[in-house]
Amino acid sequence: MRDWKQIEAIQLANRDWFRKWEATNPDGPANFDYRASVRNSIRQLNDESAIPLVIEYRGKLVGQLTISNILHGSVSSAFIGYWISPEVAGKGITPLAVAMACDYMFQVVNLHRIEIDIRPENAASLRVVEKLGFRFEGTKKGFIHINNDWRDHSVFALTRDEVAGGLLNRYLKH
Ligand SMILES: CC(C)(COP(=O)(O)OP(=O)(O)OC[C@H]1O[C@@H](n2cnc3c(N)ncnc32)[C@H](O)[C@@H]1OP(=O)(O)O)[C@@H](O)C(=O)NCCC(=O)NCCS
Repeated sequence: MRDWKQIEAIQLANRDWFRKWEATNPDGPANFDYRASVRNSIRQLNDESAIPLVIEYRGKLVGQLTISNILHGSVSSAFIGYWISPEVAGKGITPLAVAMACDYMFQVVNLHRIEIDIRPENAASLRVVEKLGFRFEGTKKGFIHINNDWRDHSVFALTRDEVAGGLLNRYLKH
């Protein structure tokens, strides 16, 4: 819970950086409550449907990485979403964080598939999955309400067998 203030500070100081890529409420504008959002993430962590993580750089919280919609059994799959402060963008921090999160999900939680969905206009995020060798699977029409409208998303995925030696290892060898 102690992280919500730093998350709010980064988000409010960089509205132009985040707005275009941020999930919105289809029923109309709502004031975003960062404290409630973190509390909700903890609830999801407790019911094992999500693993909310923060990204730190030199000991300071600079972003979030959330593993959500975790399903076990015959699906054994999850989604990853992320953001980072513009102050530390372009240093390769997010691909490193995603590689570490995927290895954890594949090797410790024993999931089989990880999906990342990205608006086709989001060049920086597309680079993240490209660097990590995620496979393009297709387009989900109007998949998520982002920046006040239903937006198409490109679907990228990796299965555990594609990165048998670990995604972090493969990424660092490039
Ligand atoms: C997408 C995002 C998480 C990438 O994080 P990152 O840690 O900067 O990732 P990288 O360092 O690998 O940079 C990825 C690309 O961003 C672009 N980039 C680099 N520095 C940048 C900067 N200062 N400003 C804007 N874009 C920059 C480059 O195209 C880079 O690719 P390159 O390394 O081939 O040059 C980050 O841009 C972000 O938080 N954006 C806003 C929220 C968002 O889009 N979330 C994802 C929704 S799917």
